[in-house]
Amino acid sequence: MISIVGSGRVGSSIAFLCVANGVDDVLLVNRDKKKALGEALDIASAIPANSNFSIRGTDDYSEMIGSNIVVIAASVGSYKKDRTETMELQVKMIKDIAKQVKQCCPSAIILIISNPLDVLTYFFQKETHLSRFKVIGIASNLDTSRFRYYISETLSVPQSSISHALVLGEHGDSMVPIFSRVKVGGNPLFSMIDNRDSITSNVRNYWKKLRNYKSRSQFGIAKNTFDVINSILQKKEIHIPASIVLDGEYGERDVAMGVPVKINQNGVFEIEKIKLDDVEMSSLKKSSAKISNDIKSLHV
Ligand code: 2OP
Repeated sequence: MISIVGSGRVGSSIAFLCVANGVDDVLLVNRDKKKALGEALDIASAIPANSNFSIRGTDDYSEMIGSNIVVIAASVGSYKKDRTETMELQVKMIKDIAKQVKQCCPSAIILIISNPLDVLTYFFQKETHLSRFKVIGIASNLDTSRFRYYISETLSVPQSSISHALVLGEHGDSMVPIFSRVKVGGNPLFSMIDNRDSITSNVRNYWKKLRNYKSRSQFGIAKNTFDVINSILQKKEIHIPASIVLDGEYGERDVAMGVPVKINQNGVFEIEKIKLDDVEMSSLKKSSAKISNDIKSLHV
């Protein structure tokens, strides 16, 4: 069973994809029981006739017992300019959720998608003491989708011709698109663009641009999270950048940030060491320091 804590736009979109693709039973958990029941009832009409699975809504964490995947998509407030605006409240929330999840499903794989993503991934892992390889912050693959989108728009090429695009570091203003490895039609991206600034700024500000038109992003994160859920359930490997508490990898420890990982049905089984150029390495250090400072500002 997949339990999804938080059934707002993002949580319910993930639930919809899981149900419509018939991958497993889904439980929507929301402190507002009516919201969970309503979304579950709506999504239940999308269960394919040949599906073995169903969806339920609840406000009772104990119903999560037996889940093998738990997605945390909850939020207690909204932010306007920076994902860290509601950090204190979100950290308090994630610690409460962490206690419940640890009690109900201590061996589940946890996918965190609430913001500020890296800070919450860090505190969830610290609060539960679950293996750091099972507490995974999902966002850098969303940022990578946006990176690919802007490369494709800038060069007028289909995304299928782009390979090795990655975004690492914070899911925030210091995120680091990795240009040095990207190939377009087999040729280095650097042979086609002059500098990184415009694409980097577009990728970092994608969510702000989107908010000029709608209140929140929804489908990109839902699809990127679904892809991870689906490969875990299918027992297939997926290689994506994701946030995980680091213990020396990329020269960092006691912080969570997006790094390239390999995930299988047991969680992260490898943190990939990839070669970055000097600009990328130093930007990644800055990004890690930014997240560390946010974390320390809450160590009270
Ligand atoms: C996003 O990047 C806001 O974190 C959310 O779309």
